[in-house]
Amino acid sequence: MKTKIIKVNINNRSSFNKLKSAAELIRNGKLVVFPTETVYGLGADATDTNAVRNIYKAKGRPSDNPLIVHIANPQDAEKYAYTNSLYYKLADKFMPGPLTVIMKSKSSIPKTTRGGLDTVAIRCPQNAVARKLIEYSKRPIAAPSANLSGSPSPTSFKHVCDDMNGRVNMIINSSDSDFGLESTIVKIEDENTLTLLRPGKITVDDLRGVCEKVNVAHAVTEELKEGERALSPGMKYRHYSPKAPLILLDGSIEKISEYLSGEDDSHTAVILYDEDIDILKEHLMNVDFYNFGASNDRLTQAHRLFYILREVDKKGYKKIFAPLPSQEGIGLALYNRMIRASAHNIIKL
Ligand code: TXA
Ligand code: MG
Repeated sequence: MKTKIIKVNINNRSSFNKLKSAAELIRNGKLVVFPTETVYGLGADATDTNAVRNIYKAKGRPSDNPLIVHIANPQDAEKYAYTNSLYYKLADKFMPGPLTVIMKSKSSIPKTTRGGLDTVAIRCPQNAVARKLIEYSKRPIAAPSANLSGSPSPTSFKHVCDDMNGRVNMIINSSDSDFGLESTIVKIEDENTLTLLRPGKITVDDLRGVCEKVNVAHAVTEELKEGERALSPGMKYRHYSPKAPLILLDGSIEKISEYLSGEDDSHTAVILYDEDIDILKEHLMNVDFYNFGASNDRLTQAHRLFYILREVDKKGYKKIFAPLPSQEGIGLALYNRMIRASAHNIIKL
């Protein structure tokens, strides 16, 4: 398939016409990759079963793993889901923004979009290009992350092209994703209870600010047990995996330094906090270091994680090491993506 690429700058009026042509493709059942504030998405009309099937195909994604439905305004959720007062509390506080809310679905969203479930995932993104695309298409847009199934979500136009050029009708070339990890996903259980299924920029503490009871699904921080049913189908698939094994080191910088001195060769990549690299580069002469950001700067780390994982993947290392992050605040989102990218390969030092 020939992929059309359009470059869009939201501050430039000529971009609006380009986005109208993208919206026309969505209305015609085609696939359009678009930017969001979290990661790039692979979009199609959420109400068009054929278009949605083509999303699963283009990604190589199992058809029981449901898609998020993107809307332009929080109240549009009424058309697709049975909302309640908790939905509107979340919407007031966090929408538009990097939050996805799971509720019972109305029949307006086909089962194919929902991976056969009775529930639907609703998200109102903040990115201006994404918002215009949804508005102009006058459709809810189903969109998973625009990566091939199993590789890290793309946070730049270049990484989108690596995976999707030739597989979709259009790619919108826009700026790098602002946050860099996918949205926080919560399931509404009742008026006062949420279950966190995937951590993101909106943290557990943020959610507790609007909802009394926030349970964290144990698969957020732990491995699913053999035969256990996942609350979110996405939890059961291996994710974001680099080709070389990613090994997470859990310990002080002194312990990490000691451990890595036995791994000091040119086939090793070490992802580490900036200040720790300054210490370690004195005595690790052969490894390649990748700056993760300052140890207390979780936003920079979130912004860089998938980008770095894709870059190290291209270099053909035999091993990749990274620190195990703490689970505090946005750290929980990093922790969740990193334990899965490493297939729970953690060394306690
Ligand atoms: O930031 C994001 O959420 C990005 C951008 C493009 O919006 N999208 C994204 O989609 O990350 P995806 O498909 O890569 O991840 C969605 C996750 C999957 O793990 C899926 O299993 C889960 O959401 N999910 C979707 N609908 C669900 C439902 N009804 N119940 C439980 N989990 C659901
Ligand atoms: Mg994904």
